[in-house]
Amino acid sequence: METIQADVAIIGAGGAGLRAAIALAQADPKLRIALVSKVYPMRSHTCAAEGGAAGVIKADDSMKQHFDDTVGGGDWMCDQDAVEYFIHEAPKELTQLEHWGCPWNREADGSVAVRPFGGMKIQRTWFAADKSGFHILHTLFQTSLQFPNIQRYDEFFATDLLVDDGRCQGFTAIEMRSGQMRCFRAGAVIIAGGGAGRMFPFNTNGAIKTGDGMAMAYRAGVPLKDMEFVQYHPTGLPNTGTLLTEACRGEGGVLLNKDNYRFLQDYGMGPETPVGKPQLKTMELGPRDRVSQSIWHEIQKGRAVKTPWGDCVWLDLRHLGEKKINERLPFVRDICISYLGIDPVKEMVPIRPVVHYMMGGIHTDTRAATTLPGLFAAGECACVSINGANRLGSNSLVEILVFGHRAGLSALEHARSMGPGNDAALTAQADDAQAKIRALFLRKPGKESISGLRKEMTDTMEEGAGIYRTQEGLDKTCDKLSDLRRRYGDVALNDKTNVYNTDLLSALELGSMLDCAEAVAVSGRERKESRGAHQRIDFTARDDDKYLRHSMAYYNGLLPPRIDYRDVVITTSPPGVRDYSGAKK
Ligand code: FUM
Repeated sequence: METIQADVAIIGAGGAGLRAAIALAQADPKLRIALVSKVYPMRSHTCAAEGGAAGVIKADDSMKQHFDDTVGGGDWMCDQDAVEYFIHEAPKELTQLEHWGCPWNREADGSVAVRPFGGMKIQRTWFAADKSGFHILHTLFQTSLQFPNIQRYDEFFATDLLVDDGRCQGFTAIEMRSGQMRCFRAGAVIIAGGGAGRMFPFNTNGAIKTGDGMAMAYRAGVPLKDMEFVQYHPTGLPNTGTLLTEACRGEGGVLLNKDNYRFLQDYGMGPETPVGKPQLKTMELGPRDRVSQSIWHEIQKGRAVKTPWGDCVWLDLRHLGEKKINERLPFVRDICISYLGIDPVKEMVPIRPVVHYMMGGIHTDTRAATTLPGLFAAGECACVSINGANRLGSNSLVEILVFGHRAGLSALEHARSMGPGNDAALTAQADDAQAKIRALFLRKPGKESISGLRKEMTDTMEEGAGIYRTQEGLDKTCDKLSDLRRRYGDVALNDKTNVYNTDLLSALELGSMLDCAEAVAVSGRERKESRGAHQRIDFTARDDDKYLRHSMAYYNGLLPPRIDYRDVVITTSPPGVRDYSGAKK
């Protein structure tokens, strides 16, 4: 097997992976950096982010307010030391992007423009129209091209970590165009492989978001933290799940039920504010968990708008006018016209909550280090945790920058302190990983189809681990996932060819999703309280005495994960009441 030797190897070339690579390349032009991705970097999911990135920049804002919004928005599950680091680094990263060419929108006086975003009680979201993720990714990608020591391996599918002498020293990956296995050896490895939203049937996520990085770390013994917290974004296009950015509401869009009533005022997010003049803190600018849950209740009460794609509510942007929509929300207009045949300038748009983001992921500390020496993680696949039980919109595009950067520097420090690895041991592990893939090819035709298992997985996730959960539903989903993981052992691989074997890749992705899904469901079953995005119909209250703790899911082979707990780091903000009523204190 061909071996590629690097000082640091990165899995994933979206925002976090590219930012890590640039940090490494800037730190040392002689460093060998391998940037490995299953897609071409500009196809990474960062590209799909729309609304913007939060960082304190205006005179009326402060670090304390960004901290308070984030910690309260996360229902006090955030580690506050991580949040402190994050908010202080955020403006530096966003300014750095500006210097690399990111075209942030401007105010008339030339200063950086910011827009309101849900749960942010001050305007602090930097944006580039409604294509912020695209511009951020493009800026990072272009910047990365100036460093010859960033060696890209596009369309390589990483499969297994190589761990010897108690530390991570590389991984194996399939070169997709040849089907050959490659061995990447490195002093340190960074996983920046994104989330796993595709385990749910209705989601905003690109098809590539199958939790491969999370599953790889998990199988190597690294715990997955807070996996039960899965974010529903309130405004998904009802037929495709495509994101309609929160900036729709930030710019003044309103949500209405079938009677054209702004129902959010009935869910602790009032009082009603004049249409066209959104008031920060309230109504449509409530946090995502609360807004999505309110839509769910409104639908239960029979006040939904009936559509061919299920029960929805209206998003009304018409009062913003064509000029503002074209300037601030051109992509939203494009998406609504292209996928729904509705022009938001003239008509209301039906929307429904959609799985968008995973607050949980690979457990890391503020250095982006995992519990496995030599392994670091950043971005959605990681849980550091700044997002707690509910991420605020526009914090994640900054998270990938802050912790991508940090992961690069931490990995460099680690790699420099390490001697060479044991060739024989690492080669043997890489051979084992290759043999596992070969076994899939050699196996007699399996009885289970990839698409069949995937459908059963996504259905059970929605039924039992969706926006509202019960013990009975979670029990059923956990049982179903155990069964699916067992049946996965008999999955059929019909295509036995080497070149771009998407059958094989889909099978591997399904395996990753099943592992992550089980961590979500079992962690959710064990958390008998309601907090942020984890809402239990049978345990409606937040229970700080028992559950102000991170869940830690440990891989347990074919058995369900073992769940342990770890205290949340509280520095300055003791748990309090989340208030989005707009009431004066
Ligand atoms: O709504 C949005 O534009 C999404 C932003 C985010 O998830 O941070």
